[in-house]
Amino acid sequence: MDFNPRLVELFLSLSRRESFWLDIEPNNIDYALETCFPKIDTPLGRDDLQHIFLVFSHLVDVKSRFTRKHSIGLAEKAKQYSLTCNFSQEHQDDFITAALLHDIGKIAVPIEVLDRPSRLTPAEFQRMTTHPYYTRKIVSMMGIGDKIAAWAANHHEKLDGSGYPYGLGAEEMDFKSRALGFLDIFQALTESRPYRNAFSQEKAFTIIDSMVEAGKIDGGGVKIGRESFARSTQA
Ligand SMILES: [Fe+2]
Repeated sequence: MDFNPRLVELFLSLSRRESFWLDIEPNNIDYALETCFPKIDTPLGRDDLQHIFLVFSHLVDVKSRFTRKHSIGLAEKAKQYSLTCNFSQEHQDDFITAALLHDIGKIAVPIEVLDRPSRLTPAEFQRMTTHPYYTRKIVSMMGIGDKIAAWAANHHEKLDGSGYPYGLGAEEMDFKSRALGFLDIFQALTESRPYRNAFSQEKAFTIIDSMVEAGKIDGGGVKIGRESFARSTQA
């Protein structure tokens, strides 16, 4: 995905201000959200909005050195998945937007937690599990739709209710929430982490299949994922 040079320039110029980094500190985030993420009610086109969301996703990805391309990578997977599902252009754009913004709540999680190369303590893990809650809050405040906010915020939920932060069950998760959750796991498994190398697609699917068998993720969505990634490697 290419970044709009004007938006990159704007981001670089804003991020040079000390106040920008203070605004995204956990203690200041509520206040900053009110001022930095006003409801989008100006007549921006779809492409303009996607570029803005791309910049937001980059802001999250660069916060931790371990996830530099995570949101962008997930958005690419969401696009492949949308094409396999024959989503309309509007549904495709909405699904990609949810992918770009799914981890935006991490701006409310301290960098020491995000960047810890070793196992998190129970308290740190609890802190980490709050990020989808903040994702929902931030995306809701943007005023771009409750569905996008829900898909983005439900990416760590599991069909058996063992996910977080809402502990939703299968009946509370729609198709796109289930799909984004699976795609996020797939994206994470195929990326390197400080404690392991990236898994191959084959190994990632083996791990995901065991989660399907355990009743945690939707087997139908995984089947579509297999098709869409096979299609993209052939292309
Ligand atoms: Fe996440």
